[in-house]
Parts: sequence; structure tokens; C-alpha cells
Amino acid sequence: MSEKAKRVAAAAAVELVEDGMTLGIGTGSTAEYFIELLGQKVHAGLSVSGIATSDRSAALCRRLGISLTTLDDTPVLDLAVDGTDEFDGALNLIKGGGGALLREKIVAGAAKRFVIIADGSKQVDVLGAFPLPVEIIPMARQPIVQRLTDLGAAVTLRLDAEGAPFRTDEGHWILDGDFGPTISEPARLAGDISTWPGVVEHGLFCGMAERILMGSGDQLTIITG
Ligand code: 5RP
Repeated sequence: MSEKAKRVAAAAAVELVEDGMTLGIGTGSTAEYFIELLGQKVHAGLSVSGIATSDRSAALCRRLGISLTTLDDTPVLDLAVDGTDEFDGALNLIKGGGGALLREKIVAGAAKRFVIIADGSKQVDVLGAFPLPVEIIPMARQPIVQRLTDLGAAVTLRLDAEGAPFRTDEGHWILDGDFGPTISEPARLAGDISTWPGVVEHGLFCGMAERILMGSGDQLTIITG
């Protein structure tokens, strides 16, 4: 994981931003480089408004003077930029390492273009080495643990720093399902999990990303699938 590579990817994404655009603004360390560089452009006169995918990213935007809007006022976004935990050659993603998958998927779904920024460590042949986050209603925990286990995942309830169940910005819990690198049909798994009662959202983003801007050292690679 290279900070320089994350910054290279974030800088390439900032180049896609034009004056007057409405933006989806992601969550995580790579997205924070994007926010920081976007803030510099806003400071220099660029006019944009954004929807942040987490309270943490929203706070950083406010600190840097980036105007925020809502999906009520701006239901269609020009461009969403976010990080990822893994991506495969068909641009399927596992997201949600930072716990923001629900808002991230809502914002990505509202955007005309969804662009991922990542360092090279996120590229995999087959998804699943990164445990798949599944955001749930607490009451449904055990039935969903059972279903994930039946599919071959080792499941853990995500905890916060105090050892209590981690709460997402929307107040839900997250189960992390470790499948190992075996998710060869991510759209199929995504379809299955989406039908389970008590699942609010899962971290498989299939058919959503337009491109990956991948930094490796100081080199940029654009992957369009
Ligand atoms: C948060 C996410 C992040 O985009 C993902 O975890 C990548 O984070 P980082 O850029 O810090 O590696 O999905 O829910």
C-alpha cells in the first residue's frame, strides 16, 4: 500500500472534475487524498457541490470549504469518485472496509459516472481475499451468519474500538464474510445476498464502476475493463 500511489490516483480523478459539477465524494484514505486535492481546487476558484458518503468525509469537505448538497436537492450527480478494497478485471468491487458501503452504493447509483481510485494492492484476479462486508439489521444477525457460513464464509461481527458492535452512519451492524479469493461470480453472489431478509446492503459493487484509476508508485494506469 503506497501513499504516493493513492495520491497519483486521486490526482487523476480530480482532473475529471469540471466547474459546476455535482459530485459524489467517497470514503477512506484514498478518497481523502481526492477530497484534499479537490479542496485545493475549490480554494483556487473551482465551483462544485458534493454529496459525501460518510460523516467523516463530510466533515473533511466542510473543513476544506467544499460545498455539500443532498440527494433530495441533487438526485443525479455528474461524477462519483471513491476508493475500493478490491477490484477484479471486470471492474467488480468489494467495498465497505470503512463501513460506508450503504451510502457509497446509494451515491454511486445516483451518479452518471462512477470512477474508482486505488493503489495497485487492490487489484485481484478473483475477489474475496478481503472479507465481504454485509450491512444488516441487528435482529437478523444469526440467520444471515448462517446463510453466509453455508456459502463457505467465515463470518465475524465487526466491532468498534471499545469492543461493541460497530454502528454504520445509518445505525446498522456489519458482518464481514471471509470467503477467501473464491468469489468468481460476484454478480450471482450479490443477487443472492440482496434477497436475504435483514440485509440492508452488501459490499459487492458489480457493473457500477466505469473505470479504475490505479496508482503504482508514481505511475497511473487507467483500467476500463
Ligand atoms: C469505505 C470504502 C473504502 O473506499 C475502502 O475501504 C478503501 O479505503 P482505502 O482507500 O482507505 O484503502 O469502501 O467503506
